[in-house]
Amino acid sequence: MCGIIGFTGGREAAPVLLEGLKKLEYRGYDSAGIAVAGGGRLTMVKTSGKIENLCKKVESTEISGKTGIGHTRWATHGAPNDTNAHPHMSPDGRFAIVHNGIIENFAELREELIAGGAEFLSETDTEVVVHLLSRYYDGDFKKALMKTVARLEGTYAIGAICSECPESVFVTKVFNPMIVGVGIGENFFASDVTALVSHTKNVIYLDDGELAELTPEGVTIYDATGKEIQKKVSRIMWDMEAAEKGGYDHFMLKEIMEQPHALKSAIDPRVKNGKAALSELCLSDEALRGINHIIITACGSAYYAGCAGKYTIEKLTRIPVSVELASELRYSDPIVDEHTLLIVLSQSGETLDTICAMRELKARGVSTVAIVNVVGSTIAKLADSVIYTYAGPEIAVATTKGYTTQVAVLYLFAVYMAEKIGKIDDAEAKRLTGEILQIPSNIQRAIDLNPQLPELAKKYHSNSSLFFIGRNVDYAVALESSLKMKEISYIHSEAYAAGELKHGTIALISENRLVIAIASYEELFDKMMSNIKEVKARGAKVLGVAREDMKKIVAEADDVIFVPNADPLFMVPSEIIPLQLLAYYVARENGCDIDKPRNLAKSVTVE
Ligand code: G6P
Repeated sequence: MCGIIGFTGGREAAPVLLEGLKKLEYRGYDSAGIAVAGGGRLTMVKTSGKIENLCKKVESTEISGKTGIGHTRWATHGAPNDTNAHPHMSPDGRFAIVHNGIIENFAELREELIAGGAEFLSETDTEVVVHLLSRYYDGDFKKALMKTVARLEGTYAIGAICSECPESVFVTKVFNPMIVGVGIGENFFASDVTALVSHTKNVIYLDDGELAELTPEGVTIYDATGKEIQKKVSRIMWDMEAAEKGGYDHFMLKEIMEQPHALKSAIDPRVKNGKAALSELCLSDEALRGINHIIITACGSAYYAGCAGKYTIEKLTRIPVSVELASELRYSDPIVDEHTLLIVLSQSGETLDTICAMRELKARGVSTVAIVNVVGSTIAKLADSVIYTYAGPEIAVATTKGYTTQVAVLYLFAVYMAEKIGKIDDAEAKRLTGEILQIPSNIQRAIDLNPQLPELAKKYHSNSSLFFIGRNVDYAVALESSLKMKEISYIHSEAYAAGELKHGTIALISENRLVIAIASYEELFDKMMSNIKEVKARGAKVLGVAREDMKKIVAEADDVIFVPNADPLFMVPSEIIPLQLLAYYVARENGCDIDKPRNLAKSVTVE
């Protein structure tokens, strides 16, 4: 969702800010703006729509200064127009701020400020912040900012500049991510490391309530009481190429193709002596043996990764696994105790509903394991144990390698736990781990087996509505495939457990309706063949998905996607690949904005 960049140094700020905003575009936004301090004043340029509009507007504006802030906004309070775009400036032109998050008590503050004579220009919750800054300013910028944030309830990351301190830019946060980039003679902050990595790999992760003052010479961090503190400088482990398209037309295609490598990075470091070994798990063998219920919680595709992982964890550990949508779990008064283990899945580590569900269960004494991609993210910090997926930066809004690496880590967890609690022996742990180690090459084979996908997309892209069906773990694959299709190609799509078709949905099957029937799960292959016959008898076109040794499907399906033979316990990452690619090619045929689908955001930091 919204993105923030801040800069101070020896060069013009505007180009640095615009470049940073381009790096943040992928998060999803509908307006953008920058403000720069220089020549004793602040200059602000903002606009609805794309960053290109902003660049054009900046070109025709006299804007000069070496300190500034920039923002991409995903509208929550007020329409995505020029006025509501960030930054927001105080009426006297002294302060400009950018804000991510939601100020929950903005209505009371607004009323109070209006009563004191303030005039509001926008409909945003954010504008109260600049008015408070003006009210509390007595020549000390830091003090005014501290007094301001003390009045705020809700979630925020706020970057602020002041015309009277043109060499300082401040940033503070509660609940929303913020990272300071430490350079030489120049310093930065951003809501996301992708905007920093071309300038510096040295970063400081701000914690809630901390305030940072950046000048060209250095970075000073204060705690919530205003006392200076020392923070660790961390090193970002990936470089710029990882966050660029590298010759592909879209980030999504690049990220799909990167999966053999991403899965290797997620799996290989966790195999010791031929067996899954999760040294990151801060749970004793005794604690593991005490677990009698596992809850997996997440949102979006991460939730579907949990649905896929459930089958393997239950099969190997024989411990019941419930997979819960974070937005529901947090309000469900869940039945948990000290024998419950919570596994939290999140690519970004910043999804607000997931964070809140996690806090809710932590408060009830539940031990938490986070499987997260972004290092240093909020969920990673909150968890008792964190297992990073090491997928590298994921830029396309629709996740691909984020999802498959989550599934792979759940597989490792299943094998690891099953051995620790005595459900499998050493030899079986080694055999199963050997199967997991095959996943990267199976993924490559899944890509190589299906060169026909662009043609299939041409054939089927004009369907207005389609169905994915599957049984057992293939149903979990259907859920994720259907989400992928609808989010990037805008085609209405539903996923159904194939056995449920007859209980209503089959009424929607008519002449030429496309049904994508996922039938890789061998034990239920014959049942799937019956479901395929049922929909065909009602005029549907069937695109079958089956293992390469299940040639029988050719007799029933109109077209077939084959996936590599693999252990059914660990098939999902290779099985999903051609379906990710199909969604990609269909979206391309439909001329969609694949990396930044309409209305969607990469990291959903509001409820
Ligand atoms: C957004 C993204 C999805 C993602 C979901 C959860 O909706 O568009 O691709 O699956 O958030 O994100 P997380 O970062 O928690 O995995």
